[in-house]
Amino acid sequence: MAEQDVNTLTEAAARDELARLAEALAAANTAYHTEDAPEISDAEYDRLKKRNAAIEVRFPELKRADSPSEKVGAAPSDGFSKVTHAQAMLSLGNAFEDADVDDFVARTAKFLGIAEASLSFTAEPKIDGLSLSLRYENGQLVQAATRGDGATGENVTANARTIASIPHQLSFAPDILEVRGEVYMRHDDFAALNAAQEARGAKSFANPRNAAAGSLRQLDPEITRQRPLAFFAYAWGALSQPLAETQMEAILRLAALGFETNPLTALCAGAKELVAHYDMIGAARSDLPYDIDGVVYKVNDLELQARLGFRSTTPRWAIAHKFAAELAWTRLEGIDIQVGRTGALSP
Ligand code: IVH
Repeated sequence: MAEQDVNTLTEAAARDELARLAEALAAANTAYHTEDAPEISDAEYDRLKKRNAAIEVRFPELKRADSPSEKVGAAPSDGFSKVTHAQAMLSLGNAFEDADVDDFVARTAKFLGIAEASLSFTAEPKIDGLSLSLRYENGQLVQAATRGDGATGENVTANARTIASIPHQLSFAPDILEVRGEVYMRHDDFAALNAAQEARGAKSFANPRNAAAGSLRQLDPEITRQRPLAFFAYAWGALSQPLAETQMEAILRLAALGFETNPLTALCAGAKELVAHYDMIGAARSDLPYDIDGVVYKVNDLELQARLGFRSTTPRWAIAHKFAAELAWTRLEGIDIQVGRTGALSP
């Protein structure tokens, strides 16, 4: 069905459309986050979410109580015990075009009441995996939880302990430290896992993200242990002492504590430098050994991050600049034609 331009929707049509989008996005969230088996592409998901937001801007009074704009991820699955996050695990707003990056820098400076030129940002790849929060108390890993719906996640502690790049013990860490980052699978490991799955007649995975999510979210940690998972640290939750004064130094501190951090993280002075780093990472993308789907920009000064704070589901101090969906070839294996009651043929 052709979609109508948001600017020409009547109020009644907008109400129906918001209901349709809420249902479609909820189904997509369950398939992606709970079943690890997405039914629509990430680009289509982003498009539906953007359309939903545009309709809500035009008809604010029609915004639903269960609006997809207020949702992060999906509820934790019943197979795991639940963990209430000490600090919510949120999502990121998206930029799709260079102009959206200019807007992000301008609105950040405006919110703070400072000159754009006085802001600096980190830029780092957006890893296409699933986020994980690791809680350390007195240097010991005591809990690992998935994002879930942002407030409550799944307790996957035993599974996380089987991942080689997740330290069980830290030295010289704050007494309470929640390290957040992305569990992912490298391309070569993904190919080998799928070959092994096929060889023993087991289900193969659609892409490395699903393989990583399906492997971490196993009820038997011995299965997770056999899966080649890796972890990049890029953020934190609850802390008993600050890690550093800037985002960049905090990342260096996480690296010094023994976490893998992404080597393509850079400090950038403004929108031009951010977009230049985005273009550089975009050009390197097909040679990276893991999937990324964009570049994340974060205000470098942590005091400014604190002043900027959060909207309902996203920080004001960060944004994800997404890549256009990668093109892929497929083989069309056949076209089935149905003959309708009137004799019309529909493929
Ligand atoms: S920062 C407050 N940095 O993207 C949000 N997230 O769309 C802090 N992600 O849930 C997240 N790479 O799973 C951040 N370098 C990166 C990331 C990253 C991937 C994921 C993460 C997050 C999602 C948001």
